Amino acid sequence: KNIAIIMGGYSSEHNISIKSGNVVHKYLDRDKYNAYRIVITRDKWYYLDGSNREHPMEKSDFSIGVDGKKIQFDCVFNAIHGTPGEDGLMQAYFELLGIPQTSCNHYEAALTFNKRDLLSTLKPYGVPCATSYFLNKGQTINEEAIVEKVGLPCFVKANRAGSSYGVSKVYDKKELGKAVEDAFKEDTQIIIESFLDGTEVSVGVITYKSEVTVLPATEIISENDFFDFEAKYMGKSKEITPARISEKQETNVKQLAEFIYKALGLKGYTRSEFIFIGDEPHLLEINTTPGLTEESLLPQQAKTAGISLEELFDSAIVEALR
Ligand code: DAL
Ligand code: MG
Repeated sequence: KNIAIIMGGYSSEHNISIKSGNVVHKYLDRDKYNAYRIVITRDKWYYLDGSNREHPMEKSDFSIGVDGKKIQFDCVFNAIHGTPGEDGLMQAYFELLGIPQTSCNHYEAALTFNKRDLLSTLKPYGVPCATSYFLNKGQTINEEAIVEKVGLPCFVKANRAGSSYGVSKVYDKKELGKAVEDAFKEDTQIIIESFLDGTEVSVGVITYKSEVTVLPATEIISENDFFDFEAKYMGKSKEITPARISEKQETNVKQLAEFIYKALGLKGYTRSEFIFIGDEPHLLEINTTPGLTEESLLPQQAKTAGISLEELFDSAIVEALR
């Protein structure tokens, strides 16, 4: 089977995605699959061969030409974080072309990538989350109203972004303006959330051997003020899998993560972030193309569950083709 590993993307997470894609490329079973690295940038889409030569893609059918031979793909392995790989755009394109893909479908991707819409969809189910305030670019910023609603400290976030790009923790009303400006560099929408003071955990949910499977939770202890980019990717955090949480907390978070996956009709790998207030996990967000770099959490969780990276990546393709 020919597998296109798509990586890169248009957002600030481009380089993280290239790392994720290269890990997938390294561990995909070569006896079963011909794996092709396909880099997606705003300017061009191309196949990157083993000697790092670029071959242009034909976008009308997502094919490549190599040595005069046309190659089409049986499945897309999505390793793009951020737009256009995590927000439904690529998903819709592959749905139109009829090419199976490892990530969820376009609507579920768009919904989960939008923090405001995700949280407001899940609220009626009773899923706990932070109090939030939403701003679209061009709206007047009323600092009094924001602080009155979410309190201090609070988190200012780009509404549709990942890897903590565009995220600031704000302690004083005077810092809001700068934080809002930074978040608007990443997205035209921002979300400002109340600070949830508790243990943070990350929980992978995957479909493995046809079953929705919840992986062991990871406890996140940042050396920085929160789990920012440096903490995520430059070693400034401790990530403990399985998380040192009570049995009750573990049951609650696993049940909630599985409930959300099923209620939203997700597919493939996902990784959700929660903060405990007492025994109750509060949802922060869901990643439907979670990081697969050597530092990333989902691969660590899979290993703890006794699933090797080879098996993890193979199962994503097996499920997509099912
Ligand atoms: N957005 C990053 C890649 C993650 O969720 O791991
Ligand atoms: Mg994220």
